[in-house]
Amino acid sequence: MLSERMQKSLNDQIKLEGDSSQIYLSMAVWSETKGMEGVAKFMYDHADEERQHMLKIIRFVNERGGVAIVPDVAKPTSNFVSLKKMFEILFNHEVMVSKKINDIVHVSLEERDYASNNFLQWYVSEQIEEEALARMVLDKINMIGDDKGGLYLFDNDIKTIVAQAGTGPQ
Ligand code: FEO
Repeated sequence: MLSERMQKSLNDQIKLEGDSSQIYLSMAVWSETKGMEGVAKFMYDHADEERQHMLKIIRFVNERGGVAIVPDVAKPTSNFVSLKKMFEILFNHEVMVSKKINDIVHVSLEERDYASNNFLQWYVSEQIEEEALARMVLDKINMIGDDKGGLYLFDNDIKTIVAQAGTGPQ
């Protein structure tokens, strides 16, 4: 059985994962309408992954005798200014999500809720992957700079980067 505090923390994370999905969906639209199809695919896939992250917690909360709260759909920003700025936002967002996961893991230990702690370990590992992937992509973008040819190749390469990274819920 979940404690009130544990349930609240998990429900907050459900909302954050839902918000993440919306942000990446907005990034997908921005990229697609700027002609960057590879980046758009990366973002659409990422948005789907975040929705899966949300669903996984929803199912867990209900399974443990709690009640999951389906969060509001918040409208994210739609202007990301540049490819570099967009991936900086993505990276910073993932760093923030990692901090939130750490906070919930902390709550699970304080509540002596080892089942939730065990469940959350998947998210701890996932965040390591997500941060590493975002950092790698950002490094590549910084290397390319304003080189148009480089950007064209990057848009193509990002499809394979994602496939090789093999991120996503197992
Ligand atoms: Fe579900 Fe990207 O954190």
